Amino acid sequence: MHSTFAARAQKLQRSELAALFALAEEPGVISFAGGFPDPEWFLPEITEISDAIMRAGRGVALQYGPTPGFTTLREFMAARLTGQSMRCDATDVLITSGSLQGLDLVCKIFLEPGDVVVTEAPTYIGALQTFASYEADIVSVPIDAGGMRIELLESLLSDIRAGRQAEGRMPKFIYTIPSFQNPSGCTLSLERRPALLEFASRFGVPVVEDHAYAELRYEGADLPALKALDEEGIVIHLGTFSKIFSPGLRLGWMVGPRLVTEKAILFKQGTDQCSNSLGQIMALEYGKRGLIEKQIEVTVASLRRKKDETLKALRAHFGDTITRTIPEGGFYTWVTFPEGIDTVGLLPRAVKEHSVAYVAGPSFYADRSGKNQARICFSQPKVGEIDEGIRRLRKCFDTCKSR
Ligand SMILES: Cc1ncc(COP(=O)(O)O)c(C=O)c1O
Repeated sequence: MHSTFAARAQKLQRSELAALFALAEEPGVISFAGGFPDPEWFLPEITEISDAIMRAGRGVALQYGPTPGFTTLREFMAARLTGQSMRCDATDVLITSGSLQGLDLVCKIFLEPGDVVVTEAPTYIGALQTFASYEADIVSVPIDAGGMRIELLESLLSDIRAGRQAEGRMPKFIYTIPSFQNPSGCTLSLERRPALLEFASRFGVPVVEDHAYAELRYEGADLPALKALDEEGIVIHLGTFSKIFSPGLRLGWMVGPRLVTEKAILFKQGTDQCSNSLGQIMALEYGKRGLIEKQIEVTVASLRRKKDETLKALRAHFGDTITRTIPEGGFYTWVTFPEGIDTVGLLPRAVKEHSVAYVAGPSFYADRSGKNQARICFSQPKVGEIDEGIRRLRKCFDTCKSR
């Protein structure tokens, strides 16, 4: 049967991540792997909200809903995003089944096999998998503490236009996670934000902004979303309820130029027809009662402690032998170990022999580089487990050196 698969299915590799996530769930493992919210952040009020919806609104909550999402939720989101300086009204907001569906719909609209997409390097695994399923070619721009190195973006776009790179195929879009990036934790600086839009506009390449973690800031001043700076309508903004409410309800949103959202709605009709109706009604009620803001407060306070504890433990157990990023928000720090360390090879041993998990660097690069790097996600372990987890990691690395 395999021989009758489409080329895109034949090319897809087995996901080593799925297997590792399963292992990381084993009892006793301290997991810095999955980017999951701590279940303690989910507020107890949700029980009463879902009970009330089931009692009074079951007929709608268990029914199909409109493809772009319930108007009431779209209105609520438009007001919330306008409060963050993104100019939009309800008709500009498309409710999606998680922001990953938003990205999938963008790919459906823009990508033919062999088209080029620009990403940061490293970047989010889920996005790389989505691009791979549309047979896109990735060209990437390295990041530093200030996010995507836009001087390199400019030279890359110039080189492509001149036919010196990517066989002259201009990218269909630039995919960026400007705030508290997954996996690096780095944030695109205020100065780089308008500059990125200026390059995108000059070269005629749309920008897909993935805003997954942007509201989870524990240090420093808020920065405007690229969408808020977008005078020309070149930004497609993707957001998610996963980190401010619940990932299990699979809800996100897309705000883009109308030309794009209209196509996205048409594709969504043939994909899942509508997003989770019950979840949308719950999200709206949660939001209207101020519980999204309350959950963000709880989450940020918890993340700040976990981040501090993680950075302290890395310092205590690895000292100057590694470098790590210092996030101002979000779930991740990105660690670079000495040359010669193979984070992919060490991972099964870390999990099986030392009961600690992380995600190895190459998973975040289209070219599988980053062998001596790893993503440490501190959202899930308890504060009291973090030092022990990092101590185990050090022990695992030492044991391997001495073998
Ligand atoms: C950068 C980034 N974008 C998108 C997603 C997917 O979010 P959703 O649950 O909304 O599909 C994640 C999830 O971890 C993420 O880290």
